[in-house]
Amino acid sequence: MNSDMRIKIRPATDKDIDYVIAINIECLPEHYPLSFWLEHLSKYGDVFYVAEVDDKIVGYVLTRVEEGESLFHIGKKVKKGHIVSVAVRENYRRRGIATYLLSTVLSILVHLYEASEAYLEVRVSNVPAIKLYEKLGFEILRKIEGYYLDGEDAYLMAKRL
Ligand code: ACO
Ligand code: ZN
Repeated sequence: MNSDMRIKIRPATDKDIDYVIAINIECLPEHYPLSFWLEHLSKYGDVFYVAEVDDKIVGYVLTRVEEGESLFHIGKKVKKGHIVSVAVRENYRRRGIATYLLSTVLSILVHLYEASEAYLEVRVSNVPAIKLYEKLGFEILRKIEGYYLDGEDAYLMAKRL
């Protein structure tokens, strides 16, 4: 990879799913069945994005839109973007790809879905991801004990949009 690589981001299509699943398996311990990816593609395809370098997929972000109680105002009903999974292949990290994917999706959440908040869960040990989210304006709201299958805690992080 060279430093003047061209990064392109675009909404995911059904042809991308095999590559997205491979990147998910390579980068994260949380995996999902094919039906999960396809369901998100059909329901929330506008906020399921991939990043390409030289026509190869190197990262993705999968999001869904939920209606429910605000994370910031108890009792208030809002639309929330739930960042479910984001990953960038190791050799392509620290080049702004995750920032590009997430900031694009956050903007679409506001303009297309009229979401007023976004949130996610992240392993308490995942310093790179926590730093990324903080840079994008997410804050840690609380810790969720034993959230992951292996027993690790999660931080619930959220941002007003
Ligand atoms: N150490 C410290 N800070 C980091 C690191 C790191 N290793 N990686 C990113 N950051 C912070 C930095 O502030 C960085 O800005 P800088 O490079 O100017 O210092 C900022 O985040 C933006 O980084 P990007 O280049 O946009 O992020 P990248 O494309 O490298 O992707 C990601 C970050 C997605 C966390 C990547 O490391 C990855 O795929 N990790 C494995 C999978 C994973 O942990 N995904 C998140 C799980 S939680 C969830 O999915 C909801
Ligand atoms: Zn989640």
